[in-house]
Amino acid sequence: MKIVTSIKELQDEIKKQKKEGRVIGFVPTMGALHEGHLSLVQEARKQSDYIVVSIFVNPTQFNNPDDLKTYPRDLDRDVKMLKDLSVELIFTPTVKEMYPEEDKRQFDFGMLDKVMEGKFRPGHFNGVAQVVSKLFDQVKPDKAFFGEKDFQQLAIIRKLVKDLKMPVEVVGCSIVREPDGLAMSSRNQLLTPEMRKNAPLIAKTLFESLNFASGKTVKETVDQVVNTINGSGMLEVEYFEIVDGNTLQPVDKWDDSDYIVGCIAVFAGKVRLIDNVTYKYH
Ligand code: PAJ
Repeated sequence: MKIVTSIKELQDEIKKQKKEGRVIGFVPTMGALHEGHLSLVQEARKQSDYIVVSIFVNPTQFNNPDDLKTYPRDLDRDVKMLKDLSVELIFTPTVKEMYPEEDKRQFDFGMLDKVMEGKFRPGHFNGVAQVVSKLFDQVKPDKAFFGEKDFQQLAIIRKLVKDLKMPVEVVGCSIVREPDGLAMSSRNQLLTPEMRKNAPLIAKTLFESLNFASGKTVKETVDQVVNTINGSGMLEVEYFEIVDGNTLQPVDKWDDSDYIVGCIAVFAGKVRLIDNVTYKYH
């Protein structure tokens, strides 16, 4: 397994692998890896010959400086986990290597980033697009693997690739959960023991809402989810929206679309968690 920090070294290695005809699979991450990240690597292993994992806590996507400061980092542990999966290359650039000068690019995602994460984390998806477009340009992957846990991010990346006509196939991978249902996230390790005990209520309520929804309106379902989670007295919903899975715009009625997803952001103390559940898929 190679660990490289410079773009030049990365590109030399990729060139060599492409010459050999290898299919490059790419898994971009911000480190503090867990089974969710590893599931992307496992999918990449099935679909490609040479796996690149990037570990880079991208400052331009953090709208909250405290969140950037407290974001968990443990490179040694990450490296061990990726070695166990025989990943071929880890790319861990410095901020200076990725941003030798300020990236002033502004991306236009239409309505996709006007809602949910985009609304509550201004500039977040522009930062994600800045780093992912740079990484795609450097790694030149055939396939790139993203989790459905960050449902809106996946939609934004698909649009980015389509708009810029990038020659990469974006593969979406299902959410990996803890045994108690909590969606795995690097931020889970920041939860206090008490919040960790309460956090599974998010997934539990989302799953229960799948049954609740039949015979109820969209609005009744939204209210039920928000009230149940807020009713815990510990967790606080920032938003819960039931949206069209393609456009990400809220739906009024269940037959407004044949792809309907509920996306949620919840504060568990200072830690912000996101999750989603699919009500309807074609
Ligand atoms: P990060 O939060 O480290 O996540 C890296 C990838 O792992 C993303 O595609 C994310 O959706 C996926 N992932 C995280 N938790 C998951 C889970 N429980 N199940 C399945 N997949 C999961 O997302 C980012 O980093 C950054 O925004 C990045 C794309 C790397 C750009 O900086």
